Amino acid sequence: MSSVIFRNAGYAYPDRQALADVSLSFEPGMHTVLTGKNGSGKSTLLALAAGVLRPTQGAVSVTASRRPAFVIQQTRTPESMPCTVRMAVEMGRWPHRRGLLPLRALDRRVVAAAMMRMGIEDLAGRQLSELSGGQHQRTLVAQGLAQESDILILDEPTAGLDGAAHQLIRSAVEEELRRGVAVIESTHDLRDIERADRVITLERGRVSSDTRQAPAAPRLDRDESLSGGVAGTGGWAP
Ligand SMILES: Nc1ncnc2c1ncn2[C@@H]1O[C@H](COP(=O)(O)OP(=O)(O)OP(=O)(O)O)[C@@H](O)[C@H]1O
Ligand SMILES: [Mg+2]
Repeated sequence: MSSVIFRNAGYAYPDRQALADVSLSFEPGMHTVLTGKNGSGKSTLLALAAGVLRPTQGAVSVTASRRPAFVIQQTRTPESMPCTVRMAVEMGRWPHRRGLLPLRALDRRVVAAAMMRMGIEDLAGRQLSELSGGQHQRTLVAQGLAQESDILILDEPTAGLDGAAHQLIRSAVEEELRRGVAVIESTHDLRDIERADRVITLERGRVSSDTRQAPAAPRLDRDESLSGGVAGTGGWAP
């Protein structure tokens, strides 16, 4: 069953049509890469898939147990917003909280695991505004992982990262795919494009190509041994 379906979807900002006539579906366990020139509409498409934007034409429907995890394109956190790395990753567990109850032991374990996966456990007490660009980016990805959604949307997550950090994100994406998560990622990185199951290219807000490919490094090690698994579907709509 598809996780995200675009039906003739488009999006217009007040002064500009950013996306038009997009009909696509994104499936569980599949790694889709979105590529295209600056301004071609990648971030807009991802925001529609995440439910952060609503289409101004057509429709976008999402089938998922909870809101998609959306890691936005690289940003900085202003000094006026005090927030530690741990607090930022804990925010990923907010959709799992009942009411305003504190995080449970399970939530804390998931947060700790997400920080480990991104190699930021030593930064837990640091302010976001004091992090380097790559540390900040890994924190946002850890927050996305902590959400344990069955849809993971990443907007240029590896841009500007060093080789080791890049590899941490690649490994995390592989693990999420093994759990059956639909991963939708925008990138300009040729190695990441080669590794994906599917490559969609945007040109001036339209899909110009949509190619399924055998990944350059086949995931022969896919197995069901990882804990977690994808929760049931149908409980959340944007
Ligand atoms: N908030 C906004 N208000 C008005 N226009 C916008 C806004 N955000 C994006 N646009 C415009 O919409 C179009 C698509 O932008 P989008 O950010 O989706 O492109 P992108 O492919 O993600 O680019 P990049 O590779 O630079 O991240 C561009 O023409 C851009 O100028
Ligand atoms: Mg973008």
